Amino acid sequence: MYPVWQVPVMGSALVIAFIASFHILPSHLATSAFWFNVYVEDKAYKEDRPELLEFIKKYVLVILIFSFIFGSLSGVGIWYAVTVSNPKGISALIHNYVWGWASEWVFFIIEILAIYIYYYTLGRVDDRTHLTIGLIYAIGSWISMVIITGIISFMLSPGKWLRTGGFFDGFFNPTYLPQLLMRTSFMFAIAGLYAIVVAGTLKNREVASFIVRRASVWGMAGAVLAALFFKLYLWSLPDTAKELYGMSVLVGTVPDIAVAAFIALFVWFIVVWIRPQLARLVPGVLAILILLAGIFSAESVRERIRKPYVIDHYMYSNQIIPNDMVAKGVQGEMGTIDREGILHYSYFVPEGLRTIDDADLLRSGRIIAQIECSACHTLESNGWLRPLPAMMEKAGLVTVDDTQAFIGFLDSFPFMPQFAGTAAEKRALAAYLVSIRPHPAGAPAGRATIGKIHR
Ligand code: HEC
Repeated sequence: MYPVWQVPVMGSALVIAFIASFHILPSHLATSAFWFNVYVEDKAYKEDRPELLEFIKKYVLVILIFSFIFGSLSGVGIWYAVTVSNPKGISALIHNYVWGWASEWVFFIIEILAIYIYYYTLGRVDDRTHLTIGLIYAIGSWISMVIITGIISFMLSPGKWLRTGGFFDGFFNPTYLPQLLMRTSFMFAIAGLYAIVVAGTLKNREVASFIVRRASVWGMAGAVLAALFFKLYLWSLPDTAKELYGMSVLVGTVPDIAVAAFIALFVWFIVVWIRPQLARLVPGVLAILILLAGIFSAESVRERIRKPYVIDHYMYSNQIIPNDMVAKGVQGEMGTIDREGILHYSYFVPEGLRTIDDADLLRSGRIIAQIECSACHTLESNGWLRPLPAMMEKAGLVTVDDTQAFIGFLDSFPFMPQFAGTAAEKRALAAYLVSIRPHPAGAPAGRATIGKIHR
């Protein structure tokens, strides 16, 4: 076990969620925009409309700056955030997919080279050559999506890998193809959306109208296809994820935001298709922000349905490996932790707190909560991510005894891992949870409860 990266109030999971959702904007633009670009450039040459190149120049510059500065920065940001928040999960991914990432980086380098060459050779090399450079970029960047989707979908549905440990068994997992098709379709919608924004800044209104109308058709087609493949994706989910999807759709507004954003974008495509002159910068940027909200909620749904695992049926979100993974020679940790205690099993625990004693009960309990619960819960009552004090209230837990019993059955909720640790640790955690629980007005908080436990 590694040290815990606990982000007060916000929770480490939300840090990742914010960076990752933002990253989707530049990264999907990087993989999608050149298909539209090459399409328009081809038209410019075939129909002898050099004025279209004005759009090309602007669009490439936007891609270059937005994708390769903000995209790269947020990409590195994701790596940092996931590595500190879940080092063991990342270690598992790297041990399985280091060659996957290596291949992705090869295509990433091709992408970077191709876009610079494309930008600086516009109008300086013959048409065919320039189009070919554009196509190399388009295909190269899409292949990087082909690879990275294998690794992302693996975490949700490792499939046969759980038995065999084989690279391709995990890569071509049950949700791989639906996710790839969905992301590929959706990236065309994103390309359309950005093209409309860029077209809105063009001086030549005739070119702008032409681009906006074409881009909105791309947008509508991409969105419809993505919605269809989303159905396929739901159908391909593992049963446990399906069950959680049913629950997350029923409770909370998160999926509603994604659906509302999707509908809003679709309407926007129709509106600018009918009236291209409405496609100006401000409504365009607004549309991108709506897209961002939609992505954020769609990604949180993906996070929710993977619970309680970070790698489905292999590793819990709190980095504990519940079962043996024979093919990889990995031993399940549950038995050992239940015997030795989680405070012994984790290296980074202050020495005095490894054994539970009454004087330090609450401090030990807090460390256990940090290790086992903080991947999904914040500990503060004003926390953003399922704050534990509020959860205690929700579960109606008041006494230490009840809470201790509750912790013993944590895994009867399909989204929570089984508690790992000794009975004394369970009690320490229960005492800590009761101490942070909101107290009715007038009732003495904290201290009084501790006193009660000590007796
Ligand atoms: C893998 C993520 C995950 C981990 C780890 C996790 N929980 Fe939860 N927990 C959830 C989710 C999701 C919910 C449902 C939240 C909601 O209803 O809004 C939840 C709900 C709860 C509730 C309220 C249950 C109810 O009756 O509705 C309590 C209490 C709780 N968790 C305690 C804990 C404790 C204590 C730990 C650590 C030992 C823990 N959780 C670890 C994901 C997790």
